[in-house]
Amino acid sequence: MDRTLILLKPDTLERGLMGDVISRFERKGLTIVGLKMMNMTEEMARQHYHEHVDRPFFPSLKEFMTSHPIVALAIEGVGSVEICRKMTGATFGMKAEPGTIRGDYGISTGCNLIHSSENKEAAARELQIFFQENEVFSYEPAVRKWVVTQEDIDKAK
Ligand code: RTP
Ligand code: MG
Repeated sequence: MDRTLILLKPDTLERGLMGDVISRFERKGLTIVGLKMMNMTEEMARQHYHEHVDRPFFPSLKEFMTSHPIVALAIEGVGSVEICRKMTGATFGMKAEPGTIRGDYGISTGCNLIHSSENKEAAARELQIFFQENEVFSYEPAVRKWVVTQEDIDKAK
């Protein structure tokens, strides 16, 4: 089962969309194994967005992400990294497809609601920035057997 990092960005909290966004991941059949509200520090912003620190948009991205609380989610499921990325949609809301979170809830470049790890390596690295080991939980929801079959799990290995 892979795990991925989702961040609910400040606009999601300010607009009262936390529940809607979290519900989408739950309804998809993914499992929330970690969840916390926090203020992202400048250091965390530099670590998390390390590939963007020299880009012209980084100062405004850092200001946006550190100025208001965010919510970090650790999400587990077969193929969760790729699935969450697809559910997130293209980076800018005005370009994102309807049916995706960014496509359904936003039109902005900066206020694009959530972050979703790009691949498994990024997910592993990013989860460590936001969660201690004992803040991510292992449990087997009883409904999981109705969400994924053993064949799905074997295929994903
Ligand atoms: P994220 O990392 O937040 O999940 O978004 P992403 O992978 O879709 O996009 P990425 O290229 O990693 O960019 C990170 C965030 O920086 C802002 N951005 N602004 N003005 C610009 O040209 C520009 N490019 C990127 C976006 O808010 C994006 O989420
Ligand atoms: Mg990114």
